[in-house]
Amino acid sequence: GAAAFGGAGAGWSASALVANGSAAAAPTDGPARVVGPSAGAETVPVVGTHQAGVDTPPQAHLALVGWDLREDAGVVGLTRMMRLLSDDAARLASGTAALADTEPELAAHPARLTVTFGFGPRVLRDLVPAGRRPRLDELPGFDRDRLDPRWGQTDVVAQVCCDDPTTLAHARRMLVKDARTFAQVRWIQQGFRTARGTVPDGTTMRNLMGQVDGTVNLAPAEPDFDPLVWSGDDALAGGTFLVVRRIRMQLDKWDRVDRVGREVVVGRRLDTGAPLTGVTEFDEPDFAATDRFGFPVIDPASHVARARSADPRERFLRRAYSYTEPDPARSTGEDSGLVFLAFAADPARQFVPVQRRLDELDRLNEWVVAIGSAVYAIPPAAPQGGYVGQQLLE
Ligand code: HEM
Repeated sequence: GAAAFGGAGAGWSASALVANGSAAAAPTDGPARVVGPSAGAETVPVVGTHQAGVDTPPQAHLALVGWDLREDAGVVGLTRMMRLLSDDAARLASGTAALADTEPELAAHPARLTVTFGFGPRVLRDLVPAGRRPRLDELPGFDRDRLDPRWGQTDVVAQVCCDDPTTLAHARRMLVKDARTFAQVRWIQQGFRTARGTVPDGTTMRNLMGQVDGTVNLAPAEPDFDPLVWSGDDALAGGTFLVVRRIRMQLDKWDRVDRVGREVVVGRRLDTGAPLTGVTEFDEPDFAATDRFGFPVIDPASHVARARSADPRERFLRRAYSYTEPDPARSTGEDSGLVFLAFAADPARQFVPVQRRLDELDRLNEWVVAIGSAVYAIPPAAPQGGYVGQQLLE
């Protein structure tokens, strides 16, 4: 069934599985049974004018596909590509095989599959008529970034999310196959969160540094969500913008920090995620509180102190995924971090000031570094019988 959203501050709700009927009461003779095979049957419908996958409670797995259009594609090629891919996405999200699907059985368990398409600045500039062009600037440079062109800006993006990795792999392959005449894959960024059923739905995720990550975030039930996420620009009504930051964590260096130090860095406790001035996860941090020596309990240079803005308009939806890839060249044998995804109605106004502040000062910077960066306009849902991006391209 359609997923529901939870109470104030809780972010994503635990009610989706209950509504689905699979969160059966614990049998007396065994451990609680939280997830049954029916989780595979759940679908995420497109609601209202928005593409799915933005206000959708984050699924367990991510494949973010970045394509560059082939030189000869032009607006005709892009239009044909978006027609094909929109059709694939709609079918696959409902548990139906794509046209000419060579493995139709792999589409049978949609597991909340969503595909969210976006266009990069070059597409808007070169292929969208001026009167219909939403404004999108590339992000300014940040001093601490160490960007690798390998993870840079592309023309088109698809955020493919699903609770099942096999369904996800198949959907991603179908999309890439159908796009290949028009576009070349530059990168695929895979990511994950806690597996569905490991913890109750709605539990804030933990990132690979072990921190509870996502506590203070926009929840779709909040009145501020719509104006801060959905574009107010006529050219993109019902759409939004996506900021992608690939952020590497230096986990070998992080290993050398003790728990007290780790909690100071973020300003929150590792066990509960509570602010250092509070007891439970959703307690409001008290940035004015001081200890018996008169020092602030939450370090003003901590990540939460620096990431929080006094201006309530400088907020956005964070929908991040962890990543880890084998990398024998590194001492840890792997490259790990966060595929940081932020959705905002106006990234220049909402995201950039926060990123700039973190770039200037954030204790976390000693262990994290951005190695990839890109921005996209996310069009509204496809018009009835049409394709995603049609409002911009035709
Ligand atoms: C909060 C981790 C990058 C913006 C937090 C929290 C953690 C965290 C543990 C506290 C819990 C919570 O409220 O979610 C990280 C890690 C990062 C990272 C490990 C990089 C690997 C970023 C970036 C931005 C950002 C790039 C935006 C430019 C925020 C915001 C909050 C937050 C706005 C909430 C602050 C508040 O309490 O109002 N992050 N973060 N974070 N982070 Fe990050």
